[in-house]
Amino acid sequence: MEIFRDQQSLRNYIERQKEMGKKIGFAPTMGALHLGHISLYEAAEKENDLVISSIFVNPTQFNNPTDLEKYPRNIEKDIEILKDCGFVDAVYIPEVSDIYPEGLSSQQYDFDGLENEMEGKFRPGHFDGVGTVVEKLFRQVKPDNAYFGEKDYQQLAIIKKLVEKQNLPVHIHGVPIYREKNGLAMSSRNERLSPQQREPAKLIHQTLVKVNDWFRIITIPEIYRRVQEIFEDQKEMKLEYFEIADEDTLKETDFFYQDKKYRAFIVVFVGDVRLIDNMHLT
Ligand code: PAF
Repeated sequence: MEIFRDQQSLRNYIERQKEMGKKIGFAPTMGALHLGHISLYEAAEKENDLVISSIFVNPTQFNNPTDLEKYPRNIEKDIEILKDCGFVDAVYIPEVSDIYPEGLSSQQYDFDGLENEMEGKFRPGHFDGVGTVVEKLFRQVKPDNAYFGEKDYQQLAIIKKLVEKQNLPVHIHGVPIYREKNGLAMSSRNERLSPQQREPAKLIHQTLVKVNDWFRIITIPEIYRRVQEIFEDQKEMKLEYFEIADEDTLKETDFFYQDKKYRAFIVVFVGDVRLIDNMHLT
């Protein structure tokens, strides 16, 4: 596996691969790799000649400095995971100056309102940071296909919108959420959970399963009331938000229309670890 630690060496490599007509699949990450990331690489490997990943903890998408500081980092372990999984041909581990040569700032995007829903309300500037880094990485890696986890469903929708609005020649693929045995969605943040916190954290997924059972059977206000009630009793956990939204517009709904698709979204603090999850309602 090739490792590129600066933009110039990556550029030479990409040029050579493009000359050979290789189809490039790309999965950008912030490191602390887990099986969820491997599922992105596995999907990429099936549809491309070459799989490239990146590891870059992007400062501009963190609205909370403590969250940025505490974000798990272990590049050497990540490189071993990438080598061992056997799906990845090259990894790009840029310096901050390769991505932000003019200093840390985000571009301001208009994602047709997707950025103002859910995470947008709780993490101001987050999606401008994500859009900025993803656009820069796409311009450097020049992938044909790029892969993102559905755990960050709003991010996935925003990246599709970014590609459409900026006319970027890349096809975006969503990859289903990879879950731990107890149902907890795989996330780099799970590393920060203590063994005592991991067990109750499974309640997040269990709640979504219940919501799916209640879907179109009980009213939306009653579903919200029951979800609130589940978390009221929890000592270690605090519900930040729960929403049922239209899967395409991400707008919260107060009524289920027959011809629309819906998804439940949830964010819960377990201690000081912020966990996010969602589920398509069937
Ligand atoms: O989902 C992530 O890990 C990050 O938001 C991404 C897409 C790599 C951009 O920094």
